[in-house]
Amino acid sequence: MMSEFYDTLTQFLAIPGPVEMHPKVYEAMNHHLYGHRTEHFRQIYLDCVEKFKPTINTSQDVYFLAGSGSLGLHAAITNLVSPNDTVINLVNGKFGERVEKITSRFTKNSHSVKVDYGQGITPEMVKEALDAHPDTSLVTITHNETSTGVLNPLPEISKIVHDHGALLMADCITSAGGDLVEMDKWKIDFFVSGSQKCYGLPPGLAFIAFSETATEKMKQVSRNQDFYSDMLMYKDKLSKAPDTPFTPAVGLIYGLQASLELILEEGMENRIKRHRLMGQAYRSALEALGIQLFAQEGFRSNTVTSAVVPESVDAKKMIDTCKKFGILVASGQGTMKGKIWRVGHMNMVGPREILMITSVVELALKQCGANINLGDGTRAALETLNKAY
Ligand SMILES: Cc1ncc(COP(=O)(O)O)c(C=O)c1O
Repeated sequence: MMSEFYDTLTQFLAIPGPVEMHPKVYEAMNHHLYGHRTEHFRQIYLDCVEKFKPTINTSQDVYFLAGSGSLGLHAAITNLVSPNDTVINLVNGKFGERVEKITSRFTKNSHSVKVDYGQGITPEMVKEALDAHPDTSLVTITHNETSTGVLNPLPEISKIVHDHGALLMADCITSAGGDLVEMDKWKIDFFVSGSQKCYGLPPGLAFIAFSETATEKMKQVSRNQDFYSDMLMYKDKLSKAPDTPFTPAVGLIYGLQASLELILEEGMENRIKRHRLMGQAYRSALEALGIQLFAQEGFRSNTVTSAVVPESVDAKKMIDTCKKFGILVASGQGTMKGKIWRVGHMNMVGPREILMITSVVELALKQCGANINLGDGTRAALETLNKAY
């Protein structure tokens, strides 16, 4: 029996956030802190605003709030929903459920389209819900449902929502920066993302952008229900000095600038291609091993993959075995705990990392009693990569 070699400093993060970060991002954050009400910092902040826009294909300004991604979801609801407004939440996982919970705190008229975990939401389901609730003013969607590994068809759903005359809030926390998000073309009215996923930063920043229609709606919503994430205040401040209403997370903004430079250097098109290919390589490995993918075919995420733990395998033991071999993977959440495991392939995951993840997952499955042929998964991943490069 070999002794354990990896410790918390050398474990590779294959969880769906936080993720492995580029050395240049660490370096940027190690910078001497400077005052935020200075010309020096304002230039950095504005540079981040400009560099962020092409990552989601928007001409709208982007706001960086100090808080985790959930602050962005909270901001969407407090800024867009009055107590009598009707909202439809599209829910097919734990993060959709989170938005549902926030919504129900701010309006009595919160409805949901609920789909089984692992299944995708279709435009037809949304149309039916809107027909049932014609006074709906906002629809919320989790673009990439991290708890199940499902990518929902955001552009098609957005069309239905806008044909109806409602606004769309999209949680793009694990899609933006890694997969395609076209905020303007898809007509996302309120965009939310977070720092610790495809943007490759530590947790602590919520990214927000919104449309002109959303701005008009915000002017009608009570300013009393929120203060810290009052987006009209952020908009006003950015348009003036430019400034932020509160102290921004200076160190994280330094990191964000470095990270955005790396993203634009790679180019979004290449970055999206790479994320898609790594997802494909990992999925091909699991399928070659006879492992069932949890997400419905046609709705599979390019940044996080969930798979069903074989009956003969104890999920916790398998995840612990991956850890023993130096890779941190994620368990299922809520009722999915013990039934699925999840691997994030975001930001720094390239061919070398996906092969490492694939081999370790395969080894852990074998060691925990799965009936697989050792090597079949890694070979499939190699073949996928061999064809692509
Ligand atoms: C899709 C999605 N929405 C919301 C969240 C919540 O973000 P945070 O944990 O940064 O508050 C997450 C985090 O994993 C997520 O993946």
